[in-house]
Formats: sequence, C-alpha cells, structure tokens
Amino acid sequence: MVKSIGIVILAAGKGTRMKTDVPKALSLCAGKPLLDFVVEAALSFARESSLKAEVGVVIGHRKELLENWWQNHSQKVNMKLAWQREQKGTADALKACFEDLPHFWNYDYTLVACADTPLITSQEFNQLFDILKSDNELLGVAASFETAQPKGYGRIVHGKSGFNIVEEKDATESERLIREVNSGFYILKTSHVKNLLNQIDNKNKSGEFYLTDLFKQNFNVRAVKFESELPFLGVNTLEQLAKVDKVIRSKKITNLMIEGVRFLDPDQCYIDFDVQIGAGTIIYPGCTLLGKTTIEQNVLIESNTFIKNSIVKSGAEILASSYLEDAIVHDEATIGPMARLRPGADIGPDAKVGNFVEVKKSKLSRGVKVSHLSYIGDAEIGENSNIGCGFITCNYDGANKHKTKIGSNTFIGSDCQAVAPIEIGNDAFVAAGSTITKNIPDGGFGIARSQQTTKEGSAKRFLKSKKG
Ligand code: UD1
Ligand code: MG
Repeated sequence: MVKSIGIVILAAGKGTRMKTDVPKALSLCAGKPLLDFVVEAALSFARESSLKAEVGVVIGHRKELLENWWQNHSQKVNMKLAWQREQKGTADALKACFEDLPHFWNYDYTLVACADTPLITSQEFNQLFDILKSDNELLGVAASFETAQPKGYGRIVHGKSGFNIVEEKDATESERLIREVNSGFYILKTSHVKNLLNQIDNKNKSGEFYLTDLFKQNFNVRAVKFESELPFLGVNTLEQLAKVDKVIRSKKITNLMIEGVRFLDPDQCYIDFDVQIGAGTIIYPGCTLLGKTTIEQNVLIESNTFIKNSIVKSGAEILASSYLEDAIVHDEATIGPMARLRPGADIGPDAKVGNFVEVKKSKLSRGVKVSHLSYIGDAEIGENSNIGCGFITCNYDGANKHKTKIGSNTFIGSDCQAVAPIEIGNDAFVAAGSTITKNIPDGGFGIARSQQTTKEGSAKRFLKSKKG
C-alpha cells in the first residue's frame, strides 16, 4: 500500500531577532521569500518519493501577508494553510496544523520543517526518510549536524538511553559547548506525534511549547548527523540572512557559468534566484540583476548596471551604469552608457538609447535613435526616427500625463520640446531648438524658434574686460 506523509512547514513566527517588520518566512533571500525555498524542497521530495504527500504551512504573525503569498503562489493547489493564533512555540505551531487540517492525522508520517532554512534540498529529506524507513520500530528522526558556531541552535545531548534536544536558553554551560545541534527538520510516525503532542508543556526558560520535546531519551528516536552543515543553516538574524543569501547567489552564478554565461568577476555580481540568462551573455563586474528578469543569449551587460523585472533580448547591449526597471529591450538594441529605462519602456530592435537618456512608458520602434540627453515619457516613436540631443517630451501639465506620437523616419533636431498631447507625422522634420505645440502632418517641416539678430562689431559691448 502507498504510504502517505503530511509535510508541515512552520512559518508562523515573528522572527523577533531579525528586528524587521516583515514576517521572517517572507524575508527575501536572493529575491525570493525564505519560505519558497523550503516549499520547493518539500514539493520535490514529495515528487521524488513514492509517498502520497501534502504540504501544510502554519502561519500566524501578520498572517494576511502570508495568505497573500499563498494566493499568488504557483503551487498553491498543493498546499494548505493552518493558522496558529498565538505564537507559543514550535510544538504549538504543529498542534495548530492538526487542529486546522485534522486529516493530517491520517498520514502515516509527518515531516516537520522550519521555514527559516532556505538551503535545504529534497536530498536531505530523502536521506532522513530512508533512515526512518530502514527500521520499523523507529518513531522519529531528527536531522542534526556539527557546527563550530552552535549559538542559537538546540544542542543534541546524548545520554545512556538516547538523546535530548536542549535549547540554548535551557542549556547548562557544559551543554552549550556541544557542537552537535538540531537542524529543526524531523520526520516522525504520525502515531508518535499523536501520543505526545498534547503532553508537551512550556516549563522552560522561554515559556514556549518546544517541538523538540518529541525527541527524548527512552523514546525510540534517532538523531541523524549529516556531514555538512550548509543545507541546514538557519536564519534567525539579518547577519545569518546575509550569509545564506550569499551562498544562494553564488550557487546561482556557478550554475549560470556552467550554462555558458560569462562573468568577468563572479564575486562582484548580484543575481536573484529567478533571473534567467542565456548562453553567450557577458556580464561585467558590479551588476545587479533582480526579480523576474530575463536576459537572452549573447547580451552584453557592462559594469555597474542595475536591471529589475526586465527583459533584454538577444544581442542587445546594456552599456555601463545603466538602470532598467520593468522595461523591455529588443534584439540588438543598445542602451547607455548611463541610460535610465523606467517602467513601460519598450525599446525596439536595433534601437539606440544613449547616455543621459530617460525613457518612461514609451514605445520606441525598430531602429529609433535617441542618442543623448533626452527625456521620453508617454510616447510612441515610429521606425528609424532620429531624435536629436536634448529632446524633451513635455508630458505632464501638473495634473495629467499626455501622449506624444512621432511617426517613422522623422528627424527631430537637437534641443527640441514636444508639448503633449501632440502628434508629429511620418517623414517629418523638426528644426533644432523648436518648442512644438501644434501637430505636424506627414512630411511636414516644423520650426518654432525666435528670429536671430546679428549685429556686426557689437560683441565688444558684451565682452567684459577682465580686471587686473
Ligand atoms: C528551532 C529549534 C532548535 C533548532 C533550530 C534550528 C525548537 C524549540 N527549537 O529553534 O532546536 O536548533 O530551530 O534552526 O523548535 N514558529 C512557529 N510558531 C511559533 C514559533 C516558531 O511557526 O510559535 C516557526 C518559525 O516561524 C520558524 C520555525 O518555527 O520558521 C522555528 O522557529 P525559531 O524561532 O526560528 O526557532 P529556533 O530558535 O531557530
Ligand atoms: Mg530558527
């Protein structure tokens, strides 16, 4: 008969030691909530094992934020939420799961995982489960590991008839010296949980109900010591968050290099976990690529570029110190150096957005060139139009935003402004230094500047002679 397992992820805690407002489980690590990493490991374990499995996530502190997380999660059909009303400890959190999801009592096994351990993978779950399966009498297994920095972890205190898990606060001086610690990952026979969960008390220094009390001397349970501490690194402080964040980003960059992405200095780039980058792309030092960013093949990204939630298509070049957010750059386009693409910027194939150019919510078609010092906002520019240096779309009247439309093959001279709403047609020409306030039809020439007066020999009146 197929055996079954309930996977319970504890995510109700406030994360007091983080000293931030965000519930710890939703703290971002390489751009993703800590909880996501544990959920993914749990779901892969469920897929890989031949067990019938279901995930329950226990939420509590700022539960509305976690409900929102769940609503937007691609795997929500495979997960249920349980609510721990008050955060009274890890045993109480597991109890809340069985109260809200009583069918979890029917599963043969219960796996408990903490949400604050993002380096965990299905491999550790598999290893742990293999040991529990190997001995029919065994009631539960706890993953442990040795560390040079046991501070904050529960210590595994071995005795004559098994072991106890003693929390740091309750440990004696000599127990604190123990380096074998509890990882917070357990697999138990659900019957063992049922026999003991309600008997756990809170008579300890924290006044909390400790889940670790399911593991005591004289119970037929085992501490399974893993060789590497890395998968079990827990996050209780921002310092620990920075440490695991670094591990995840570094793994990400290693994988990208294996797939053919070149980093001139892999230690000097920050790449979020969900960023996708195609082979042949070259990334210079000091780049930050965040969120749901996709960089296709053979893209060049020069130093100190920041890209968030954007798409950069094949062969495009993002030159040094550019800033892109919620933007699309099509094939072979060139951006920067020092350009800014704000949300809704859509830069066509072969187009060019040069230095000190800002583009917002605007579509530049194929081959458009805006090479220097311009602001393009709420605009549409047709194919192969050339926008001269210092062009400004005057899109805001202090209350509302208005559109600028410029056709194809149009030439806008340097230092022009288009006061929106305005339309300039195809094959049009706007003379340098013009402030355009009226539409220009296809093929039209627009000039809007005052007449020049030249007075010969008059310069000396204005050239002030230097004193002394
Ligand atoms: C826990 C273990 C400790 C272990 C360590 C590993 C206990 C008593 N201690 O300590 O032995 O070495 O993990 O990282 O279990 N949570 C709830 N509800 C609560 C309290 C906590 O859901 O009322 C959740 C938290 O959100 C977190 C997890 O349980 O995801 C662990 O809680 P945390 O406070 O981090 O426990 P540790 O002190 O790290
Ligand atoms: Mg913890």
